[in-house]
Amino acid sequence: MIRVGIVGASGYTGGELLRLLALHPSVQVTVATSREFTGKPISYVHINLRRYYPDLKFTNVEIDALTSRCDLVFINTPPGISQKITPNLIESGLKIVDLSPDFRLKNIEEYRRWYQMDHEAVDLLSKAVYGLPEIHRDEIKNAELIACPGCNSTASILALTPLIESNIIDKAHIIIDVKAGSSEAGRKPNLGSHHPERANAMRPYSVEGHRHVAEILQELSLLSKEEIRIMFVPHAVGAVRGALATCYTWLTQDDVDENMLRRIYAKRYGREPFVRIVGEGLFKYPDPVNVVGSNYADVKATQYEKKGVIAFCAIDNLIKGAAGQAIQCMNILLKIDEKTGLEAPPLRPI
Ligand SMILES: NC(=O)c1ccc[n+]([C@@H]2O[C@H](COP(=O)([O-])OP(=O)(O)OC[C@H]3O[C@@H](n4cnc5c(N)ncnc54)[C@H](OP(=O)(O)O)[C@@H]3O)[C@@H](O)[C@H]2O)c1
Repeated sequence: MIRVGIVGASGYTGGELLRLLALHPSVQVTVATSREFTGKPISYVHINLRRYYPDLKFTNVEIDALTSRCDLVFINTPPGISQKITPNLIESGLKIVDLSPDFRLKNIEEYRRWYQMDHEAVDLLSKAVYGLPEIHRDEIKNAELIACPGCNSTASILALTPLIESNIIDKAHIIIDVKAGSSEAGRKPNLGSHHPERANAMRPYSVEGHRHVAEILQELSLLSKEEIRIMFVPHAVGAVRGALATCYTWLTQDDVDENMLRRIYAKRYGREPFVRIVGEGLFKYPDPVNVVGSNYADVKATQYEKKGVIAFCAIDNLIKGAAGQAIQCMNILLKIDEKTGLEAPPLRPI
């Protein structure tokens, strides 16, 4: 059994990790931290997990407890925390799967610019592997530190990867529109995320520059030999879970048609265990409603008139956009079946 710690276990992504790991056959959760709920049982916060962790209580973040009782630690804290504790944990030989943004960006200047803070573990930035298995599976296998993508970034990158790699679009003109549910903002309410303020919203936010732009550009640029330019606008919508990326761009070739787009996506994702290509039928385009509760990303690209193309990706932001993807990365790292603990089908209706 691999002994696992979760730092920031009382939040939404921590709760999803606890839920999914409860039935994982190779893993036992030995440490779950929360400063606010120290000493309380897991089900005090995560009421859905009553009976699953009868002996586990939230503890404070203590490096000694993590290093003596864990082999691998998931970190689910706001920006700026992981960089303070990860170096000690790695030095003690632990593997880290970080869901926070602290190690996603390779360029320290970009981190300072987007997160408006300095970084205390700059040396680890080059070691960290961006935890998107569909692009970095081989590096994840041998990583010490995995930096899982943001949920908007996961949806945007998965939607666009086949178009970028096949070199059929104008990479300097890509418009990404993401709609995301309220759980994306975490458990702590603020004026924008508090339920009465948010319930029926369809609200653009961070239009002047969302932090996920930096990692989307970083990753898409790795796939492309040309400069990538994007306009990225997220929208807060009333749903609790789900993120949908709709990406608009222009074709650079005249011979593209729907069949070719289908072939490109099928070739790129045909063997991916958690990417499904949406076909024809009643629901012709990806919709988060059809993936919620699962680790699936539903994708599709379709032609718009002769010269345009629109790519979509729908995910559950807390699963493929966070906890599920983190477990997928852990499975790859542990060299066990990548799907372990993640095979439950989506809920429907939600
Ligand atoms: N929500 C999503 O859809 C999503 C998707 C992908 C990635 N992420 C990223 O994952 C991280 C966690 O997100 P979340 O939605 O789970 O947030 P959340 O619901 O607000 O939970 C945050 C957790 O971090 C702990 N925490 C906060 N400040 C801390 C500190 N200074 N030291 C130690 N622990 C601290 C909190 O517990 P205590 O305050 O009690 O210690 C809580 O358990 C964030 O970096 C977020 O950007 C979120």
